Amino acid sequence: MSLCVLGVESSCDETAVAVVRRGDDGAVEVLSSVIHSQVVKHAVYGGVVPEIAARSHVETIDDLARLALAEAAEKGVGVDAIDAVAATAGPGLIGGVMVGLSFAKGFALSRGLPLIGVNHLEGHALSVRLTHDVPFPFLLLLVSGGHCQLLHVRGVGDYERLGTTIDDAAGEAFDKIAKTLGLGYPGGPALEAEAAKGDAARFTLPRALLGRKDCDFSYSGLKTAAAKIAMEQVKTPQDRADLCASVQAAIARQLVERSARAMRAFKAEHGGDSPAFVVAGGVAANKTVRSELSALAQKEGFEFVAPPLAYCTDNAAMIALAGLERFALMRAAADYDGDKQVHDGLSALARPRWPLDERRALSAPIHKFSGRKGAKA
Ligand code: KG4
Ligand code: ZN
Repeated sequence: MSLCVLGVESSCDETAVAVVRRGDDGAVEVLSSVIHSQVVKHAVYGGVVPEIAARSHVETIDDLARLALAEAAEKGVGVDAIDAVAATAGPGLIGGVMVGLSFAKGFALSRGLPLIGVNHLEGHALSVRLTHDVPFPFLLLLVSGGHCQLLHVRGVGDYERLGTTIDDAAGEAFDKIAKTLGLGYPGGPALEAEAAKGDAARFTLPRALLGRKDCDFSYSGLKTAAAKIAMEQVKTPQDRADLCASVQAAIARQLVERSARAMRAFKAEHGGDSPAFVVAGGVAANKTVRSELSALAQKEGFEFVAPPLAYCTDNAAMIALAGLERFALMRAAADYDGDKQVHDGLSALARPRWPLDERRALSAPIHKFSGRKGAKA
């Protein structure tokens, strides 16, 4: 059955609204996907300021929704054709999550539509299906400024976390090291441009968690080592470029090592011919990271799939699709007759922390002690 969903995303520094439709034949169509990036507002502080982010979401969300609805209407899908509303309900910066979720609740209430609270990570996990017909199960490496995880995606709502970062995400490491080197924010693209002029073999950097057999990541030691080298040995533009190249190579190397381990675990469970290895998140834009992961996939017998960058970084189309897939399943399971409530409704809660694989997060917490440092995702 055809379904059309309005999606809302506001968990970090991008406000986004989209309309996505899945036809009777299962084909997915993004009817609109509008994004307002707050990057200039945060650049002066060298990172995202939660309070500024939340205010900016409030200021822009109405206009963005109007724009997304107008674009969909131009393609012949008016507001009356929308069957449900999906919004990111976490994990993320809580002020921002509350803005998007409250907007979605208001919209759902005014139109009498069901509301689905979506886990932002589930949006990333399924985003590849906006453009590629990737069957379940598949292996996902999610690498962005906020997340660094290897996930075994068995199906909608069925995820196993194979590894996650015990401190910083890979994108965060790019950003923080770039900041130390005076390269501005966001640091990833700037560091990549510098690295292109440098020698990756010039500086030796630590290889974190080498002795461990799991698929977890760690980038804080690299950050400290890079800061020390920057202070003591970086005197010329060439030194800086060399350090950037060495850092980029070290980040890529850890992503490759952990992904290789996850690929072997995946193959041991499923066997299979050429399962998909999906790489999503802003760091997937990095050419060195991309080419090394693609070479690894080829070596290990996986098909390398990277969604277009617009769907790799934060967007609302992926939230609409995750909501759509979830709603379709809930409806089928409840033998929908129009009266039963098969959605989260207005009681959906905004959650700053919300692991996608709750079972794993509880049985093997990354931060063993409670308090402020509980696992972000
Ligand atoms: O997925 P994304 O847009 O937002 C979230 O963090 O959820 O990812 C942004 C991150 C930033 O840390 C940024 O520095 C990094 O992706 N990034 C890159 C590149 N482009 C973006 N890192 C390395 N090389 C790049 N070319
Ligand atoms: Zn994200």
